[in-house]
Amino acid sequence: MIEFQAVRKQYDNGTVAVQELSLSVEAGTITVLVGPSGCGKTTLMRMVNRMIEPSSGTVLVGGEDVRRRDPAQLRRGIGYVIQQAGLFPHRNVLDNVATVPVLDGRSKQEARRRASELLELVGLPQELGNRYPAQLSGGQQQRVGVARALAADPPVLLMDEPFSAVDPVVREGLQDELLRLQDELDKTVLFVTHDIDEAVKLGEKVAVLRQGGYLVQYAAPDDLLAEPADDFVTTFVGKDRGYRRLSFVDSHGLDPKPVATVEVGARVAPEQRWRLALDGDGRPRGWLPPGSTVDGELTEAQLVAGGSLHTRHTPLRGALDAALSAPSGLGVVVDGDGQYVGVITADHVLGLIEQHRRADGEGLT
Ligand SMILES: Nc1ncnc2c1ncn2[C@@H]1O[C@H](COP(=O)(O)OP(=O)(O)O)[C@@H](O)[C@H]1O
Ligand SMILES: [Mg+2]
Repeated sequence: MIEFQAVRKQYDNGTVAVQELSLSVEAGTITVLVGPSGCGKTTLMRMVNRMIEPSSGTVLVGGEDVRRRDPAQLRRGIGYVIQQAGLFPHRNVLDNVATVPVLDGRSKQEARRRASELLELVGLPQELGNRYPAQLSGGQQQRVGVARALAADPPVLLMDEPFSAVDPVVREGLQDELLRLQDELDKTVLFVTHDIDEAVKLGEKVAVLRQGGYLVQYAAPDDLLAEPADDFVTTFVGKDRGYRRLSFVDSHGLDPKPVATVEVGARVAPEQRWRLALDGDGRPRGWLPPGSTVDGELTEAQLVAGGSLHTRHTPLRGALDAALSAPSGLGVVVDGDGQYVGVITADHVLGLIEQHRRADGEGLT
């Protein structure tokens, strides 16, 4: 869908931002360009919509050389999202999103209707439509930026560090939202970040660049963590890559065991073992330590906070984290509705990793 053929960019001051490189981005996937600041990511990305022209080489979009396209028309088929969202400060949210459909020749009313559909698509309540960008949180502004980029329903989406300026919790929500959206929309997304965790989470393929504009590795995230091409990539992907690679190992074969449970609001006699407290809907609320005496009904105040929960059938990283973070050493497994299924231990997870390793005939890292 997007193809860089031997593209190179040297700025007028002599800086070579991108060394001659070739890369092809498959249609309907999220491809990530990752690397430290100044390694040429933005330069490379902007060559796609002709905000920057290469010094040599060719960029194809949908099989066509972008030089043959009228820039304004080309950009209508390419959504563009940047850090801080880049919203028009003096236009309300709805009009920010409606800008592109209006440019496309739709009536103002129709453009607004489309804009309000898009707000819903990116998970924003309709009543935010009348606010101005400055009246939104950073995360909300980014969602508006995404909605605006999607307004013309472009097949290609360029995202340049769109989530870098928001705090980590919000960022994680935005990443999940992008994955969900992509499931639904099937765009060709080229995503730039300097954050390797974000890259391996979002990318079906990840291109690692290093200073000077060199492409050092282009691979699926799992392969990147398993076999970094050189010392630069090894350092860049970080020390705990073995652990992080568990994000790509599915938890098939994990067999949660039952544990003693108590219900919040019930009367419970003391026992010399950890018991998991559930609410009336079967959702975990915390742990009751061995030997706890409860006068009257069990309240949440008497519980020790639980660790992270592992949702069944999601990757093993979450399972190991659940076991390691639980005060009882027992990781709690829940189903898709958040209801208690059983518990696992770290040993149990490590045993499964070992099984996977033997089945693959290779090491995990
Ligand atoms: N307009 C420009 N003129 C001269 N040098 C530039 C220009 N834009 C970017 N650069 C330089 O090109 C290199 C790559 O920049 P950029 O593509 O913005 O990197 P990244 O997005 O990875 O941080 C940097 O050394 C930067 O200073
Ligand atoms: Mg940049």
